[in-house]
Amino acid sequence: MNKTKIGIGFIGFGTVGQGVWKHLQSQREELEERLGVSISFPKIAVRDLKRERGVSVPAETLTLDPMEVVNHPDVNIVCELMGGTTKAKDYTLAALKLGKVVVSANKALIYEFGREIFDAVKEFGGHYYFEASVAGGIPIIKTLREGLVANRFASIAGIINGTCNYILSRMEAEGKSYEEILQDAKKLGYVEADDRLDLDGWDAFHKAVILAFLAHGKWVSERDALVEGIRNVTLEDMHRARDFGYRIKLLGMIRRNFKTGALSLGVYPALIPLDKTLARVDGVYNAIKLSGDVAGTTILIGRGAGQDATSSAVISDIVDAMIGIRDNAHKFLTPSDIDACYRLGESARMATMDEIRSKFYLRISILDEPGTLVGFYSVLAKHGVSVARVVTYEHQGERRGTITLATYPTSEAIMERVVDELKQLPEILTAPLVLRIYEPTRE
Ligand SMILES: NC(=O)c1ccc[n+]([C@@H]2O[C@H](COP(=O)([O-])OP(=O)(O)OC[C@H]3O[C@@H](n4cnc5c(N)ncnc54)[C@H](OP(=O)(O)O)[C@@H]3O)[C@@H](O)[C@H]2O)c1
Repeated sequence: MNKTKIGIGFIGFGTVGQGVWKHLQSQREELEERLGVSISFPKIAVRDLKRERGVSVPAETLTLDPMEVVNHPDVNIVCELMGGTTKAKDYTLAALKLGKVVVSANKALIYEFGREIFDAVKEFGGHYYFEASVAGGIPIIKTLREGLVANRFASIAGIINGTCNYILSRMEAEGKSYEEILQDAKKLGYVEADDRLDLDGWDAFHKAVILAFLAHGKWVSERDALVEGIRNVTLEDMHRARDFGYRIKLLGMIRRNFKTGALSLGVYPALIPLDKTLARVDGVYNAIKLSGDVAGTTILIGRGAGQDATSSAVISDIVDAMIGIRDNAHKFLTPSDIDACYRLGESARMATMDEIRSKFYLRISILDEPGTLVGFYSVLAKHGVSVARVVTYEHQGERRGTITLATYPTSEAIMERVVDELKQLPEILTAPLVLRIYEPTRE
């Protein structure tokens, strides 16, 4: 029987590209046998031909021109593993226009140009696979689109940035400051060159947007989301949170109210009850908790980044793409799939700040004098915010105290007004820190 010829090209051959190459080489025979295909690697585009790499490839395979990969007649799967958005978009669209398959791990690209890429898939008949773009080795996209396809998701909560989880976990375990652990994380290469992507929540936001599109059919923009990073979380907050029975994690939250159509998306440091699975996910690990109306709760935990975990996800896409090419029938993100996603989005609208509700944790530095609490409590009372727990701490030898409190559920809009008014009080010494408290559905 004639084997289907599959040519895999790479644009980008760094951490992920080399990992994919390495594991594909070692599994090549088995994959060829299992899938009935014959695999070749015709072209690899890089930026620097002289750069030392961890794997050796035939010199004639390397090129400086990514379009050589796109246009190569033997390449039918283009792995876009270069990162960035401008050039990566051009090469992706060029390959899709030729009807080729593009496999990518590029969450920033999908966030910025997902609509355009999916339009090109519909128009030109190419295919786009992007399992590795969210949560590294965790097969979250396949889980959403295949294993749990029967479900609608009222909530998807995830620890989807391994770098922040690593920093927060080590701060708590070792009692060290954010700055100290951040320097270590940088030395270990865990932090993106543009550290705002990790530390200010943008990388997690891009991933949450991809999940929200797949689950609810809406591309959520920056202005419709709450995005906060971990820079303001202190060791003191971690201790106070623990006193209240919580741990602090950077959480991506996608919530949908199917009665009202309201969809909300946020990335922020949140207090998670100590006994919940998400609170126990440490280090560079990621976790995603899906609350489906048919299957109930499903929690996936795994490595969120790194060469091997990311390669594992890229290779799973390559295998699906090879089957799609072999059978001339791709099952993922077909034009009808894309249309179905957008149709899902027609009944969704972004939730208002009045509709997004949770419990909140507040830390306030306040002048330590008789009567200073009166103003503070009257602001809370004026806005109908009830306090579930409160602890005050004195600072020996200083005229300031710290109040930490947990509220009952209230809205984002109300909490914003409370904080604005608290900031006006002369006895409040610094802007209050506000964190959300995660209220899990049943696990
Ligand atoms: N690393 C992870 O753990 C991880 C996890 C999930 C997703 N991702 C995503 O995977 C993608 C790749 O990440 P990575 O960590 O592998 O990046 P990386 O190590 O920096 O590798 C990037 C590669 O792209 C090449 N490149 C850059 N610009 C190019 C251009 N204009 N023309 C040709 N080649 C170019 C570089 O060439 P040279 O080698 O010659 O410099 C390098 O080989 C990114 O989208 C990233 O967000 C990474």
